[in-house]
Amino acid sequence: MQIEDITFTLKDGRSALIRSPREDDAQAVLEALRKVSGETDFLTRYPEEWEGFTVEREKALFEQINRSDNETMLLCLVEGRLAGNCQISWSSKRKMKHRASVGIFLCREYWNLGIGTRLFQELIRIAEANPELLQIELEFIEGNSRARALYEKMGFRITAMRPNAFRLKDGSLHNEYTMIREIKDRIR
Ligand SMILES: CC(C)(COP(=O)(O)OP(=O)(O)OC[C@H]1O[C@@H](n2cnc3c(N)ncnc32)[C@H](O)[C@@H]1OP(=O)(O)O)[C@@H](O)C(=O)NCCC(=O)NCCS
Repeated sequence: MQIEDITFTLKDGRSALIRSPREDDAQAVLEALRKVSGETDFLTRYPEEWEGFTVEREKALFEQINRSDNETMLLCLVEGRLAGNCQISWSSKRKMKHRASVGIFLCREYWNLGIGTRLFQELIRIAEANPELLQIELEFIEGNSRARALYEKMGFRITAMRPNAFRLKDGSLHNEYTMIREIKDRIR
């Protein structure tokens, strides 16, 4: 699915744009994924693990997502530069199509400016527009206090913990938490 462009103001007064991805964003998205994977241990890959991901593959992915009925990607740009993106998707399987899953990343220079909050408001609006969806789900790694604060602010609550979900290069093990946000008044 694609969305209408949204402009909003960051906490530092700059203007930002949220929009669906286009073919010519592919390079910037891959570069941002590699960059932020080196800026935080809280994403699933290390920077070198993005090596097999080509611009062509990314373009095909954007096209597939933009055409899909059960998936949306939103990019955020600040002064024309990519700050990061987020995604929401849900299953088409009968038993699971009431559950949406979301993910987000922003490059470090754009943290704490309110972008995550604005992107989540939009993800929640998209979920609420689908009457089949009853809940939105996500995961975060123990210690990601910024992500946790954002998710709690947006109405998510912790429902489970998976021990030792991440093992970092230094051998340290980290738990993962699952959070859920019910869509108001839909679960009886
Ligand atoms: C996590 C992430 C998406 C948050 O987005 P963001 O744009 O930085 O978030 P926002 O600025 O909208 O909101 C962050 C909130 O957390 C608060 N916060 C910031 N640092 C915090 C900390 N260390 N502990 C607790 N709260 C913190 C902020 O005050 C803000 O709350 P407020 O708006 O009520 O003041 C972003 O920082 C990011 O992409 N990080 C790296 C990748 C990642 O961790 N992705 C999520 C994987 S689960």
